[in-house]
Amino acid sequence: MRGLCVFLAVSLGVFLAHCRDGKTVSPEATRPRQDASEPRFLSAGRELRFASYYGAGMVLQRAPERAVVWGYGGRKAPVLLTLAGPQGRGIYNSSVADGIWRVMLDPVDAGGPYNITVTQEGSSSSVTLTDVLFGDIWLCGGQSNMAFTVAQLLNASEELAQASKFPSVRIFMVALEQSDEEMTDLTVEVPWSVPTAALLGEGNFTHFSAVCWLFGRYLFKSLQYPIGLVQSCWGGTPVEAWSSSRVIQHCGVKDSMDSAGPIQKSVLWNAMIHPLLNMTLKGAIWYQGEANSAYNRDKYNCTFPSMIDDWRTAFHSGSGNQTASDFPFGFVQLSTWKKNAADGFPEIRWHQTADYGFAPNERMKHTFMAVALDLPDAESPWGSIHPRFKQDAAYRLMLGARAVAYGEKGISFQGPYPISVNTTNTTHLVITYNQDISATQSENIFEICCSKEPCGYDSSWTHVPMMPQGPTTVTVLVGKCPMRDVSSLRYAWTDWPCDFKACPIYSADRVLPAPPFICQL
Ligand SMILES: *[C@@H]1O[C@H](CO)[C@@H](O)[C@H](O)[C@H]1NC(C)=O
Ligand SMILES: *[C@@H]1O[C@H](CO)[C@@H](O)[C@H](O)[C@H]1NC(C)=O
Ligand SMILES: *[C@@H]1O[C@H](CO)[C@@H](O)[C@H](O)[C@H]1NC(C)=O
Ligand SMILES: *[C@@H]1O[C@H](CO)[C@@H](O)[C@H](O)[C@H]1NC(C)=O
Ligand SMILES: *[C@@H]1O[C@H](CO)[C@@H](O)[C@H](O)[C@H]1NC(C)=O
Ligand SMILES: *[C@@H]1O[C@H](CO)[C@@H](O)[C@H](O)[C@H]1NC(C)=O
Ligand SMILES: *[C@@H]1O[C@H](CO)[C@@H](O)[C@H](O)[C@H]1NC(C)=O
Ligand SMILES: *[C@@H]1O[C@H](CO)[C@@H](O)[C@H](O)[C@H]1NC(C)=O
Ligand SMILES: *[C@@H]1O[C@H](CO)[C@@H](O)[C@H](O)[C@H]1NC(C)=O
Repeated sequence: MRGLCVFLAVSLGVFLAHCRDGKTVSPEATRPRQDASEPRFLSAGRELRFASYYGAGMVLQRAPERAVVWGYGGRKAPVLLTLAGPQGRGIYNSSVADGIWRVMLDPVDAGGPYNITVTQEGSSSSVTLTDVLFGDIWLCGGQSNMAFTVAQLLNASEELAQASKFPSVRIFMVALEQSDEEMTDLTVEVPWSVPTAALLGEGNFTHFSAVCWLFGRYLFKSLQYPIGLVQSCWGGTPVEAWSSSRVIQHCGVKDSMDSAGPIQKSVLWNAMIHPLLNMTLKGAIWYQGEANSAYNRDKYNCTFPSMIDDWRTAFHSGSGNQTASDFPFGFVQLSTWKKNAADGFPEIRWHQTADYGFAPNERMKHTFMAVALDLPDAESPWGSIHPRFKQDAAYRLMLGARAVAYGEKGISFQGPYPISVNTTNTTHLVITYNQDISATQSENIFEICCSKEPCGYDSSWTHVPMMPQGPTTVTVLVGKCPMRDVSSLRYAWTDWPCDFKACPIYSADRVLPAPPFICQL
């Protein structure tokens, strides 16, 4: 008999490429949307300053990692940096090379506030950043569903009213900028700030990211120490724009003929990610994939996992090995867009998991996934591709972070996933899940492919009825197809498989939906 589902997945092992594409192209590519690059200083020396993304009110990565701080010094004289706060006072000395100084602080426990002052030998001027906290830094990337702001939530006014209750969750936003070459520094859209309703609800797709903010706020409730949120995302952009040339080459993807603007390969990696490599961070969350549903879709199972690997390697070395080389990476699996249309979303959802169906997995270690296909929003004013139910997506992400990034035991963060399909019964498949489930009968959530050959995404599939059976099992009636010819099985393989929080299979507490899968029997 055929017992286990054999998944189509191929494990690639970990991709670690170190080749660099050193060529420089047209330098005129960068056009900052807004000139907000000056950090706020108490007293700004003309020459001596911090890099753009260090500012008063910021969060630096807490112990055991060591935070990296860097900036510019006009002259060659050594730069002295003083850190003063609850854990005492530390003085660091950095030389200035090519106009840049850089200090790796000793580990500092979560808390604050600290002041960080830099002076340059032989000069009386100094620059101070006040109210600096130590905590965990999370980078929030992706396209419009990450850019979707707190103001766009269904209960925006209630959520905005919460802002002032979380002064230890600090926000920072990178301005939209693209470049043909890897940049050292970036342009600031929102400097490090204590959250306010005005900053969180500035407009539509501006600032601040609802998923990023809610994730940070939920995490703070559990961790009870400062969280720094760095938003760096741009609507409508494909994964290639956020990927270095190493990933582009490894996966063999090319720009389409008419690519221009922020959808071109590497241009956002260059301007909006590369400059951040030198800062120590805890992890990243990501909401993207819609722009790849009709663009290099079949390569997304390479580009996305490879981008994660490449970011990890690059952030690790950029921070002098302080950011973990396998830092936790969470992502939202695509929600819904079109009813009854083939729009590529099922394939992207699958490829988001490197074709495993769940995360973390062997190919994508130390990742976590928020399933969102049960959160459709036909009435969204910004189109159904932008569902407003970001609380659920962020909450599910937060559960994943607690389990994967913080190693909290006993946190349920993954929906039910099948561990076996029993084909012994002549009329019914018996599907066994890895946990207790809450299941409801469905006529059309499962499909089988009746064929002597393995089936692909576009083969001829037939809807088959499903009935709940035991605490961990459901049965599927195969109908006319002889059991020996049932070659493949798939679940929730449409753009819009169910109504709001009404998919047929959830975790026993009904918090986590079963993710979609496709497998050969
Ligand atoms: C930080 O600087 C502010 C403003 O000068 C001062 O009021 C505060 O006492 C300083 N804090 C520490 C820990 O030095
Ligand atoms: C900083 O380092 C330089 C070069 O090593 C040294 O000459 C200078 O005395 C140091 N300054 C302090 C205050 O330690
Ligand atoms: C907003 O609504 C969501 C449900 O969509 C709920 O989880 C959340 O608690 C609400 N927020 C506030 C501040 O009331
Ligand atoms: C945001 O979008 C909504 C819905 O389309 C619209 O009513 C509102 O005016 C927009 N707000 C801004 C600031 O553009
Ligand atoms: C990615 O998916 C495509 C089909 O969309 C498949 O042909 C290919 O083998 C998969 N690659 C990997 C690395 O899983
Ligand atoms: C940032 O890190 C990169 C990669 O390690 C390095 O080449 C670059 O010099 C660093 N920049 C600064 C300002 O420290
Ligand atoms: C980071 O680790 C690599 C290899 O483990 C080592 O060669 C390099 O010197 C380390 N860098 C720093 C700044 O410690
Ligand atoms: C499949 O189901 C049959 C009938 O219930 C049972 O005898 C058999 O042990 C099952 N196979 C496995 C691998 O669980
Ligand atoms: C096959 O499974 C169905 C549904 O659970 C059950 O009614 C039927 O008795 C089973 N048939 C055999 C031969 O076990």
